[in-house]
Amino acid sequence: MSTQSGAYTPKNILLTGAAGFIASHVTNRLIKNYPNYKIVALDKLDYCSSLKNLLPSHSSPNFKFVKGDIASADLVNYLLIAEDIDTIMHFAAQTHVDNSFGNSFEFTNNNIYGTHVLLEACKVTRRIKRFIHVSTDEVYGETDIETDIGNPEASQLLPTNPYSATKAGAEMLVMAYHRSYGLPTITTRGNNVYGPNQFPEKLIPKFILLAMKGEQLPIHGDGSNVRSYLYCEDVAEAFDVVLHKGVTGHVYNIGTQKERSVLDVAEDVCKIFGLDAKEKIKFVHDRPFNDKRYFLDDQKLKKLGWDERTPWEEGLKMTMEWYTKNPHWWGDVSGALHPHPSTPVIGISHDNLCFLQCGYETGRNDDTGGGSGGASGLKFLIYGRTGWIGGLLGGLCKDGGIEFEYGRGRLQDRSSILEDIRRVKPTHVFNAAGVTGRPNVDWCESHKVETIGTNVVGTLTLADVCKEQGLLLMNFATGCIFEYDGEHLEGSGIGFKEEDKPNFTGSFYSKTKAMVEELLRDYENVCTLRVRMPISSDLSNPRNFITKISRYNKVVNIPNSMTVLDELLPVSIEMAKRNCRGIWNFTNPGVVSHNDILEMYRDYIDPEFKWVNFDLEEQAKVIVAPRSNNELDASKLQNEFPGLLSIKDSIIKYVFEPNKKT
Ligand SMILES: NC(=O)c1ccc[n+]([C@@H]2O[C@H](COP(=O)([O-])OP(=O)(O)OC[C@H]3O[C@@H](n4cnc5c(N)ncnc54)[C@H](O)[C@@H]3O)[C@@H](O)[C@H]2O)c1
Repeated sequence: MSTQSGAYTPKNILLTGAAGFIASHVTNRLIKNYPNYKIVALDKLDYCSSLKNLLPSHSSPNFKFVKGDIASADLVNYLLIAEDIDTIMHFAAQTHVDNSFGNSFEFTNNNIYGTHVLLEACKVTRRIKRFIHVSTDEVYGETDIETDIGNPEASQLLPTNPYSATKAGAEMLVMAYHRSYGLPTITTRGNNVYGPNQFPEKLIPKFILLAMKGEQLPIHGDGSNVRSYLYCEDVAEAFDVVLHKGVTGHVYNIGTQKERSVLDVAEDVCKIFGLDAKEKIKFVHDRPFNDKRYFLDDQKLKKLGWDERTPWEEGLKMTMEWYTKNPHWWGDVSGALHPHPSTPVIGISHDNLCFLQCGYETGRNDDTGGGSGGASGLKFLIYGRTGWIGGLLGGLCKDGGIEFEYGRGRLQDRSSILEDIRRVKPTHVFNAAGVTGRPNVDWCESHKVETIGTNVVGTLTLADVCKEQGLLLMNFATGCIFEYDGEHLEGSGIGFKEEDKPNFTGSFYSKTKAMVEELLRDYENVCTLRVRMPISSDLSNPRNFITKISRYNKVVNIPNSMTVLDELLPVSIEMAKRNCRGIWNFTNPGVVSHNDILEMYRDYIDPEFKWVNFDLEEQAKVIVAPRSNNELDASKLQNEFPGLLSIKDSIIKYVFEPNKKT
């Protein structure tokens, strides 16, 4: 077995699980302190992660984010080669012990199989000079409450719960790849970590968020279990030390000798919030198995020069201040704050929801198996079964293993919606139902009552019932409520923002949509997605904007914002998962004109294709209601999903390339 000591300087680091808690602190530290290192941050953006955790690094030239799964061998092999990776810091894992008592296969898939894929990629590509595997103190199993001697690194691994068993399993593979193939590995086993960016299913942020709301803090069992806690910045420093000074082939505990019981933690949280602990602490039944204590020997890492810096009181105060300043960092996490959260949002197959950052494809071996809807914890109730968007959404859910049912009730009928909700028990409701008019919006001019019934009364009723039932409503709305004006001139690149008030009510359809959007602003449980001139890869669909204009006798030629459904509908599912709320311009960035699209149509589909333009005045003679033309500013959506393609690139990628005939 080879070992390598002395100072190590990495060049290009692949950091897995980077949008999670600990790894985000490590990433942000390395990016700041070592501008010469390139960090490729890989994360599948599971329920417990947030790109916001990486905001301090986002604009750094030495930082790159890739959304993807470590279990995708193709992706990992590609990244190692394309990014010339020489170092891996492997944090990605399913980490919540409570969840592992439920769906433990997800833990095996991510923690063992995922690690195996990484190791195999190292073996095949033969370029890794240092592989830091992040494990946990829990692999040692329970420490005797009487002993003063912490587990040294040479102790036997005796995990007691499914989470720690998968972490120990992954460690075994790491050891084997070190022995069999000489992979230069280092393993760390850490005590509990706390601080900003931690998903609130974990003890300390959960207690803080509950205390912020003045609610009771639930303690599993009698609260006598003890844990050792380290502040996240100290742990990030520990990884800095291991990266540069660790000896390959070795294991390092990252620990502290200071211990506190769960009850102590709850009392300390009550204290900093000025709450009466006796009143606020409640004892609930324990989880299936709960180790009494994990006690580490922390000397080996200290010999490399690391020590804990942040006293508990100071760390807890900084954590409390951060959560108080950022109460909505995680969106609606009420489910995670339950004493025993029962429906963890894990296990969604991202293959079909894949939202790709930086243009990387996330491949996944078929045999890794995607989560079933049940496993994902998601269940959608979708209105608009016979509509275009509603139909596509159902297909995406099917492909992505998300459970869903279509609503049977009529939107205007409160009791029928309630019945749907009772029957389906959804986690989220999608509204893709609405009157848009057939063959076009002119129909609404002569069917005003029907239009009001669905678009106004129906949508508001649905939003109201969802509010009453504590459900997030993803509402497909329209961006056709704006028209270019003096402050948003055509071609200026200045688009309408989410906060702008609608300025186009030329058609009755737009009028109803604008009114409803205004009224929905007061519903905090609604996410309004302003879709515009939807486009899809199905060129036979008469609703497709490309199909429409390629069949018209004459077309105007005006740049507009548009929505490529093949790219953006998966994003809407991801937004539901992230609990996005409020108004969103739901279009691809930039504008595209009718002629731009028809030129692409000619180049990709039919070289003989010809068309004739006419101006707005002439167009007005053949339509009943005026149409809106505008640019929407898509930067809010782009900030949330940095890999969003511009409208032209998206049309080429999703529509014309797959349909190419020339
Ligand atoms: N938090 C602690 O107290 C603690 C203590 C000791 C060890 N650890 C270990 O440290 C590591 C990080 O823990 P954390 O608390 O920051 O976890 P976390 O749950 O906050 O983050 C885990 C991250 O991994 C990502 N991820 C999960 N499966 C993935 C996959 N298959 N492909 C790509 N990304 C994936 C998630 O999206 C998430 O961003 C884990 O390996 C954990 O076992 C944590």
